[in-house]
Amino acid sequence: MALQLLGSDPKQMGLHGARAVELGATQVDINFGCPAKTVNKHKGGCVLMREPELMYEIAAAVRRAVPDAIPVTAKMRLGYDDRSMGVACGQALEAAGAAEIVIHARSKVDGYKPPAYWEEISKVRNAVATPVIANGEIWTVDDYWRCREVSGCDDVMIGRG
Ligand SMILES: Cc1cc2nc3c(=O)[nH]c(=O)nc-3n(C[C@H](O)[C@H](O)[C@H](O)COP(=O)(O)O)c2cc1C
Repeated sequence: MALQLLGSDPKQMGLHGARAVELGATQVDINFGCPAKTVNKHKGGCVLMREPELMYEIAAAVRRAVPDAIPVTAKMRLGYDDRSMGVACGQALEAAGAAEIVIHARSKVDGYKPPAYWEEISKVRNAVATPVIANGEIWTVDDYWRCREVSGCDDVMIGRG
């Protein structure tokens, strides 16, 4: 059972990560992908992709607070304003000790509008050793195979489909 945290205060995020494990979580995930206005206004979710250094601080704080045996993972997009932040944010999460990174292949501004930019995921995948999981617009088996090929990822995450 993975529990997902969302927030911007590294200290609080660490405390909540530790509490999640006390309550039985076997994986702690951090949400850097949520595009909701209310969430972003309070500096949670995708807006943090404007600040890779803060993403690092948050993920490192959770990693420190959680036992070594529990994977700390992250979910992000490709950026907030545009799709240019994937590599910087992916590298920040890797440096913080993330065990896996799921990438929803759009910016915040792209919202949920097709297409998903799977080719951009491959740039992040090539820049980090951390396993990257591709996400966005996989509805059919054919989408699955094309996403794997274009993103270079072995694993995908399916949301709405
Ligand atoms: C109603 C709704 C709620 C979502 N809530 C979350 C969430 O809490 N955490 C998260 O990481 N992603 C959340 N997502 C994003 C999905 O995980 C996924 O990244 C996105 O829908 C794109 O993948 P898809 O095209 O397969 O649906 C949500 C998406 C939708 C539509």
